[in-house]
Amino acid sequence: MSGTADKTFYLETFGCQMNVHDSEKVIGTLLQEGYRQVPTVEEAGLILYNTCSIRDKAEQKVFHRLADYKKLQAQGKKFGVLGCVAQQEGEKIFERAPHVSMVCGSASYRNLPEMLVQIETGNRSTGLDDRATDHCFETEYTARTNPHRGYITIIEGCDKFCAYCVVPFTRGKERSRTSSSVLAEARQLADLGYTEIQLLGQNVNSYRDPDGKKSFAELLAAVGEVAGIRRVRFTTSHPRDFGRDIVDVLEAVPTLCDHVHLPVQSGSTRVLDAMQRLYTRDQYLERISWIHAAQRDLSITTDLIVGFPGETEHEFEQTLSLLDEVGYDSAFTFKYSPRPNTPAIGLDDAIPDGEKAWRLAVVNEKQKQMSAHRNKRHLGRTVEVMVEGKNPRGQWIGRTSQIKVLNFTVPEGVELKTGSYVDVRVTASFSNSLVGEMVSAARGS
Ligand code: SAH
Ligand code: SF4
Ligand code: F3S
Repeated sequence: MSGTADKTFYLETFGCQMNVHDSEKVIGTLLQEGYRQVPTVEEAGLILYNTCSIRDKAEQKVFHRLADYKKLQAQGKKFGVLGCVAQQEGEKIFERAPHVSMVCGSASYRNLPEMLVQIETGNRSTGLDDRATDHCFETEYTARTNPHRGYITIIEGCDKFCAYCVVPFTRGKERSRTSSSVLAEARQLADLGYTEIQLLGQNVNSYRDPDGKKSFAELLAAVGEVAGIRRVRFTTSHPRDFGRDIVDVLEAVPTLCDHVHLPVQSGSTRVLDAMQRLYTRDQYLERISWIHAAQRDLSITTDLIVGFPGETEHEFEQTLSLLDEVGYDSAFTFKYSPRPNTPAIGLDDAIPDGEKAWRLAVVNEKQKQMSAHRNKRHLGRTVEVMVEGKNPRGQWIGRTSQIKVLNFTVPEGVELKTGSYVDVRVTASFSNSLVGEMVSAARGS
């Protein structure tokens, strides 16, 4: 390994946006400790994986990576596993991959500086949390990778314990940041030129201000009113904690984006109960009716699981009928994957993989048609997009407030800047994207 004079690290991130943002904070911490980030494993002295264990496939990725690079240990390189697999597997990782010297779950990132010293001196270091940590990982050293869209974690952990889910075991107990610290970070981002803020939490709307000053809806409104911020998104909302006041602020504050992500998981009340989701189909649909009733044209997206143990053909059909009733703009769909420690692991009535695959294909086909139908409504309208770059065909890629991808052309000779806002007229629509022509630079760009 290169000497202490040049401490280098490589970091690869798997999993959700919270992991992506945690990595930005971990990178900031390492830079502060005198490390330099490098783009390849070969150049690095320390190789880190920030891992995900939400489904079996996600978990296997880290072990494949570790196996691929095992031989590099001979060159003195060190390996660390961070994130959800680290917290879930703990010191068992050292047995399965003896070349690893650091295992650190997300609730222990504050201890990284000391842990780095330990591994530098040739020791192993472990940072695990027993659902005991009750503060958030806040650091002034966040190395944000996108200069326009800034993530802010407002609540960490999860206390819901859905029967299929590892998150309460990997992310620790639910804990929120104060609204004043969130707002200070939002203002700091605005000062740095960020125009979009995305508030993050496993259940972002279960937020409870430790100072008791603001509800989640009030915090959302306050972030939306920060000068310079043009777009605010929030993810993920849990249906049980989704109050009407959230729809009210979406109506009242123009900078809040026209989009709600509200994972349903199943359309059957019996399955929802077995999943311990804490709401019925009707209660979920009541929340959807508030969103449908809004004056703003809000897009609605969801997550759902097929083949939960004991899900009958009829119950699966209830998920299909719910898709029709809600009319989602898009959906992330998953085959149930048994996870260690979770209550559902003990349930029999497993559904064969072939049946799960068939249900997934059916649900995906249905949603594809619905997405195509929902996207048609934008045809002929002019919408504002944030410019994200160019696609391989040379068209510009924009993101609408409703979180849709819009590929568009510009008049001859016009060059756009990533992160700027332009108005685009929609000329064609597909199931997963829109196509259009730029009309003009949007106000304030
Ligand atoms: N906190 C969010 C979800 C976070 S996990 C919520 O409650 O909605 C993201 C998605 O992964 C979940 O919504 C669920 O659809 C899926 N998921 C979680 N555990 C899973 C499992 N064991 N098998 C298949 N999908 C799973
Ligand atoms: Fe997992 Fe349920 Fe918590 Fe979401 S609410 S993170 S699905 S346990
Ligand atoms: Fe994966 Fe952990 Fe996020 S399990 S989805 S990285 S909370």
